[in-house]
Amino acid sequence: MNRIFSGMQPTRQLHLGNYLGALRNWVALQDRYECIFCVVDLHALTQNQEPEVLRNNIREVAAAYMAAGIDPERNILFNQSYVPQHSELSWILSCHTPIGWLNRMTQFKEKAGKQREMANLGLYAYPVLMAADILLYKATHVPVGEDQKQHLELARDIAGAFNRHYGVDLFPLPEPQILGEATRVMSLRDGTKKMSKSDESEYSRINMTDDADTIAQKIRKAKTDPEPLPGTVEDLEKRPEADNLVTIYAALSGESRAATVERFAGARFSDFKSSLVDVAVETLAPITARMNALMADKGEIDRLLRAGGERAAAMAETHLAEVKDVIGLLRPGAGS
Ligand code: AMP
Ligand code: TRP
Repeated sequence: MNRIFSGMQPTRQLHLGNYLGALRNWVALQDRYECIFCVVDLHALTQNQEPEVLRNNIREVAAAYMAAGIDPERNILFNQSYVPQHSELSWILSCHTPIGWLNRMTQFKEKAGKQREMANLGLYAYPVLMAADILLYKATHVPVGEDQKQHLELARDIAGAFNRHYGVDLFPLPEPQILGEATRVMSLRDGTKKMSKSDESEYSRINMTDDADTIAQKIRKAKTDPEPLPGTVEDLEKRPEADNLVTIYAALSGESRAATVERFAGARFSDFKSSLVDVAVETLAPITARMNALMADKGEIDRLLRAGGERAAAMAETHLAEVKDVIGLLRPGAGS
């Protein structure tokens, strides 16, 4: 039995990194797996949120999933907070997770920064909630971008430790699926930094809702170096900005990086960027249009999320009951 679980946080707008690193792969995987795609709104609470903005972002991420091609009938699509079992399992798992494991999480260190003592407990416990998301559905595969690899290793460790502690085979060890040419899309302003929702510069990222002119402007302003494009993939290695743009082009056009490098060998960046604008707009414009159309009917998005939430909750309830029985939490009246 193969089951996929993955999710994105409804914190600000989704960008090209989210699309190429994760969402696009989900669309391809939905034909081969039973899939559960979640808008992880509880994770978003680890950062400060305006209630109205958060509510809108939850719908917008759901719309982005569907606009990109996720079918809400064939897959389960829902928002995390609709299913309370995520929080419940998260608590149970946190009682089985040594603090030492969490202290190794690089994303916490990055996000907490120098103000570590002021970071909220939720940010620290974030990877445990993520493990709960996955294990609650006994998911076997988790398609994500490269930056989530460490969190997934932790989820596997937690699952393994739980199974061993109780002498059961309850949780499958979830496998990361880090797929495609662009598993780590970098900032357009700095090829050594990840493209991220939290970068203060709008020019660092292409948002999924950017129109054609904005995409063109951001790509034209993207940082490059003075040399023309190289002729081999090896020559890209010391040129982070060139490497990033070539990788984005390859992922968008469905080519390998090697084929892209070969095609543009010796080209000037200005010419290469024009081609990049073309593929970026060609890919994103129809998705943006569908997203806008979906967002025009918020009631319909809510209806779909609720239907997905009901399906998710049914599975979550069954699995959480198994967990409770294994660890000895009494479910009065339920037998055993
Ligand atoms: P987040 O926006 O942090 O909720 O991330 C949602 C998904 O997008 C996760 O699978 C991430 O690994 C992926 N992702 C986020 N940023 C990038 C990036 N710059 N490159 C590739 N994948 C990314
Ligand atoms: N932590 C993930 C991210 O920021 C989002 C996430 C939460 C997730 N729960 C998950 C991804 C479960 C995959 C599976 O990208």
